[in-house]
Amino acid sequence: MAKTIIVSNRLPISLRHRNGRFEFKPSAGGLATGLGSIYKSGENIWIGWPGNTVEDPEQRAEIILELHELKMAPVFLTKKDVEEFYEGFSNETLWPAFHYFTQYMVYNPEHWEAYKRVNQMFCEAILKKADPEDTIWVHDYQLLLLPKLLRDALPNATIAFFQHIPFPSYEIIRMIPWRKELLEGICGSDLIGFHTYDDMRHFLSAVGRITGLSSESGYIQAENRIINVDSFPMGIDYGKFEKQAKSRKTQNIVKNFRNQVGDSKLILTIDRLDYSKGIPQRIHVFHELLKKHKDLHGKISMIMIVVPSRDKVQSYKELKEEIDLLVGRVNAEYSTLNWVPIHYFYRGFPFEELSAFYSMSDIALVTPLRDGMNLVCKEFVASKTDRSGVLILSEMAGASKELQDAVLVNPNDKQGVIDAIYQALTMKPQEQKARIVSMQYNLKKYDIFQWVKVFTDRLAHVKKKQAELV
Ligand code: G6P
Repeated sequence: MAKTIIVSNRLPISLRHRNGRFEFKPSAGGLATGLGSIYKSGENIWIGWPGNTVEDPEQRAEIILELHELKMAPVFLTKKDVEEFYEGFSNETLWPAFHYFTQYMVYNPEHWEAYKRVNQMFCEAILKKADPEDTIWVHDYQLLLLPKLLRDALPNATIAFFQHIPFPSYEIIRMIPWRKELLEGICGSDLIGFHTYDDMRHFLSAVGRITGLSSESGYIQAENRIINVDSFPMGIDYGKFEKQAKSRKTQNIVKNFRNQVGDSKLILTIDRLDYSKGIPQRIHVFHELLKKHKDLHGKISMIMIVVPSRDKVQSYKELKEEIDLLVGRVNAEYSTLNWVPIHYFYRGFPFEELSAFYSMSDIALVTPLRDGMNLVCKEFVASKTDRSGVLILSEMAGASKELQDAVLVNPNDKQGVIDAIYQALTMKPQEQKARIVSMQYNLKKYDIFQWVKVFTDRLAHVKKKQAELV
């Protein structure tokens, strides 16, 4: 029977080397949970990078064995691969380009060579496991060349690709010297998915103008087959967040946290360290709010969680410095002995504590400058089991297309965001409830499991349609 192979740059685990042994901690991320029913069944498998550089053959053998138990297989990257493929081309060329931060783009031919080399390595790792009729589902911008490499080797395989970050306008894509190879790489797939309609539209336009392939109603006509392109907005494991928020454990943590922060209003922000998230801009907004509204002093605090990420990349290092400085300034200016304006954490938190933060906060301020989807805002809404609280959400996040009952803002409009915070602070409980309930309804219906189902059903449909056209 044909099997399914999931592929992503990073495997859904974290790997730590302690006291001469490796510790494997499965990731609790939404994607890993959603795809769990697929890769954990039968002969299916998830292939990707375990996230460390391990050169020693014995250690590699140990990792292969351990991962095998978890239904995963590793692709090992060397230090050079990490620098040139992961930090380099993926995160210094594609990431900034796809998030419209063209000023951070690096055009380095050696990084491009590394990108081709590592995509080829992934292909070889897959070919060791794959049979000609298997289904292979490739994820995200680190592996754009992979669908075509796989198609050349396995012409009859079912190949799908999903991009988790935005797909920008043709005007940005054309800036990348290797744009044609990248687009042709993605077009090795049978089904190509994005989070939003606009991402899909941009992709189709870029394919038409750069590769010359024409498309109609979401179908690209390739040389010997049709390729379907569509938007599939990703959801969260709604039930998990709802259940955790209601749990005694989380509610005890809430009590404990509340004892420490008193009864001040809480604005919550949670992001991976990334310039696309608009973190400095958000601190400026909060600073301005405190400057203008003296009545809020001592009565409102921001809980700002920044999860470390890609800290070897220059632009991320600089961002961390900038955030440290800005938080320091605000707190130095306004703190009193019993009030801290910004509670700033540069680290991740266990799930129960995150749930407590979501549950106890009055406002979630989610203002990325650009974001493919953004799941934090969905997690906040799912965790508001008492149906109070306000979500302020950037129009630049993919999630804003679905969460129309949030208070939507343009993150570049400082005054607009300040006004939104004020609106949230003074919003009547009835209105809060109406908005939260309506968003919860949609998030519950279109959760991560539904996302996986809709995508895989469509993939089967596309293959059937291809067969009919032969
Ligand atoms: C985003 C990307 C993922 C990536 C994740 C964490 O969500 O879409 O592909 O895995 O960030 O980034 P990292 O560089 O640590 O894998």
